Amino acid sequence: MPKELIKPYENQPGTRKEQVTRMFNAIADKYDFLNHFLSFNTDVRWRRKLVKTVKRLNASSGIPMTDVSILDMATGTGDMAFALSGLNPGSITGIDISEEMLKVAVRKSEQKAKSNIVFQLGDSEAINFEDEHFDFVTVAFGVRNYEDLGKGISEMHRVLKKGGSLLILEFSQPSGFMGFAYSFYSKRILPLMARIFSADPRAYQYLPESIYAFPFGEKMCRILLDAGFKSSTYKKLSGGIASLYVSEK
Ligand SMILES: C[S@@+](CC[C@H](N)C(=O)[O-])C[C@H]1O[C@@H](n2cnc3c(N)ncnc32)[C@H](O)[C@@H]1O
Repeated sequence: MPKELIKPYENQPGTRKEQVTRMFNAIADKYDFLNHFLSFNTDVRWRRKLVKTVKRLNASSGIPMTDVSILDMATGTGDMAFALSGLNPGSITGIDISEEMLKVAVRKSEQKAKSNIVFQLGDSEAINFEDEHFDFVTVAFGVRNYEDLGKGISEMHRVLKKGGSLLILEFSQPSGFMGFAYSFYSKRILPLMARIFSADPRAYQYLPESIYAFPFGEKMCRILLDAGFKSSTYKKLSGGIASLYVSEK
């Protein structure tokens, strides 16, 4: 099994996808709190960076923002979709395999009165939309959890219009002192905090394990180019703790 296919509950039955769904269903109610708390709210800044990049790319395309359609894959509790809604695009569709994560997204959407986002159940590896439908596809901290990364990327490529862009925000591996500090935090402190606060502490052991097993940087760009994207570049965020990949169809 390729290293990136680490399962959340290694010795238990079920495919990776079934286990990932189960894990996110189990942590859905505490996901937002733990996400912001354990990342010192840095996740919010990283998503904002993605939004700014969408804005910049769209400005150079000349398409009015009100005509732009965005697909937010692995939308979870919707934070990426909500951040994008500030751009006032024509439409945003948020898709996830976890029903419980989506329930939180819908609840938040009602509270925020965000009517330009539609949340629906769906699998990134078999996207329920026709070819060349979206101007942008975004996915924040989702691709690392896919059962089949290649299939997920080729599906996102399929539903993008020609000239459209895929933006992936994902954890990566910082080097040097930052790498040492981050490794200590993610492997020692984070699982300890999760044991105190989370209903499913295993989820926060899976987090660093899946990060260290996942391709990043140039290797990730190569995977995106091999899937058919015309160009693929990346920017390290917070010294490389996360990376933002921008790929054009
Ligand atoms: C770490 S959460 C990220 C949620 C959100 N994008 C954010 O920025 O907070 C990862 C999400 O990926 C979803 N996911 C994993 N595999 C998926 C797949 N094959 N199709 C759709 N969603 C998937 C999980 O259910 C989970 O909600």
